[in-house]
Amino acid sequence: MKTIKKITLGGLGLVAVAGAAFLAVTHHGEIAPQQGIAVQDFSAQQIANGKTLVAMGDCAVCHTAKNGAENAGGFPMPSPFGTIYSTNITPDPETGIGRWSYEAFERAMRHGIDREGRHLYPAFPYTAFTRVTDDDMHDIYAYLMTQPAVKSDGPKTALGFPFNIRRGIAAWNWLNLTPGPVADVASQTPEWNRGAYIAEGLGHCSACHSPRDAFSGEKKGIFHLAGGSAEGWDAPALTTATAAPVPWTSDDLLQYFRTGASQRHGVAAGPMAPVAHGLAQLDDKDLQALTTYILSYKKADAQPVDAQALVRKAETAQAVPADAQGLRLYQGACMSCHSSDPQGQLAESTFGSRPQLALNTNMHAQSPNNAVRAVLEGIQAPAHAELGTMPSFRYALSDAQIAVLLNTMRAQYGLQEWPDLKQTVAKVRAETDPAKAHH
Ligand code: HEC
Ligand code: HEC
Ligand code: HEC
Repeated sequence: MKTIKKITLGGLGLVAVAGAAFLAVTHHGEIAPQQGIAVQDFSAQQIANGKTLVAMGDCAVCHTAKNGAENAGGFPMPSPFGTIYSTNITPDPETGIGRWSYEAFERAMRHGIDREGRHLYPAFPYTAFTRVTDDDMHDIYAYLMTQPAVKSDGPKTALGFPFNIRRGIAAWNWLNLTPGPVADVASQTPEWNRGAYIAEGLGHCSACHSPRDAFSGEKKGIFHLAGGSAEGWDAPALTTATAAPVPWTSDDLLQYFRTGASQRHGVAAGPMAPVAHGLAQLDDKDLQALTTYILSYKKADAQPVDAQALVRKAETAQAVPADAQGLRLYQGACMSCHSSDPQGQLAESTFGSRPQLALNTNMHAQSPNNAVRAVLEGIQAPAHAELGTMPSFRYALSDAQIAVLLNTMRAQYGLQEWPDLKQTVAKVRAETDPAKAHH
């Protein structure tokens, strides 16, 4: 981990140095502030479409501080180089984008350059947003410009040298940014192309679901969507590299996007919760398109698996002695919410989502990270309130107890134990310490 960090830091240092060489050719001028943007010219249709697109792009997720006004900025994004704060994108003329012409807005979204000509940090996913079509870009602008203006000057991003030299980002862009919309792939259906537009554009799925290279750029090719990380969580592979024991079907994905939970896989918790919340606002046609596109990254000939039989097997297996400590912990702490009936019916509960853990991707994953996080932190902000919350076990179970509990569950599901689990729990406990939280 340390070495990786060092490599990344060293790598970015290199980028910054290379960036210096770019200074001469990367100058971007200021786009003059515009007085009195003619918001009355935007049609109701444009504004309504813009609203859906803004949900698709999770703008408010990153641009709203905890307990802050929507889109007024100040949301902290920790990075290995320091904390990056989002900005105010309400139409306030002084502290927001109220004086940004469409041209300035479009340049930020497609090129990552602000109105005054400064490079924006790629924590803002402009490498994906760059694909947004002209029409949609206008509608997003129309929506944002017609929202309430909020005067709010949040904390400013102040990274240490060399990351404070924003022009160094030009070199990063040279490697990672292909500006502008992308032509449809002729050999694919219109539905697939629509899905690609959503996933690779406003949806910016790969920002979390693709692994990053030493320069913090998304890895491409076979690594695209093959599993990355976000805010300490692992974003699982959406490709054939998935750890899900039951192959994702079209219906599973649709259910997951619509409701934030798939009975045969698990829930959209952690940083996926607000994403799923936004996706639920898309119409059926767009969700079907997204599903078709994501499914094209999975094995076409995946054999169907009898999910109920798997659950039944996990529930009746006597892989561990009946009085094992882990089993008693499970019965005491988890089973009230996480049990299917003895017939192995998938939990069809009337109360919360009660995910079937025997099929949960996180229980089958190579890394225990997400499962440990869910137990330590609980799930306070599910994608939709109806899914129910899960209590935090931070102060109820020790590192050793959580390790025994999770590894007993693994054994019960016929999986190998996670090695050094107690140490991992201790590490995640330290990382998620509420006393150290910065927001
Ligand atoms: C993953 C988090 C994230 C998401 C999602 C996101 N942004 Fe941002 N955005 C940021 C951050 C962080 C910055 C500031 C970057 C910097 O200071 O260099 C920013 C900056 C901007 C800026 C430049 C504003 C300025 O004052 O310089 C605009 C415009 C913008 N975002 C619009 C949007 C829109 C529109 C959406 C949704 C379609 C969106 N953002 C979604 C994180 C995000
Ligand atoms: C901000 C980061 C982030 C973004 C953006 C994001 N995801 Fe996720 N995604 C995650 C995380 C983290 C999880 C794991 C959630 C959990 O297990 O509770 C996840 C889980 C999933 C899963 C379930 C995988 C499994 O096997 O359990 C699917 C499917 C998924 N995401 C699809 C998408 C799609 C499609 C997009 C783009 C429209 C997207 N995600 C955008 C972070 C993200
Ligand atoms: C009070 C009910 C409740 C209890 C008790 C409970 N959970 Fe949960 N758990 C939930 C709910 C509800 C969800 C799904 C939340 C959501 O939709 O985001 C969940 C989700 C999970 C997930 C999936 C997380 C993900 O991101 O995919 C895991 C793993 C999990 N629980 C493990 C446990 C373990 C282990 C215990 C016992 C230590 C436990 N839970 C106790 C209600 C509970």
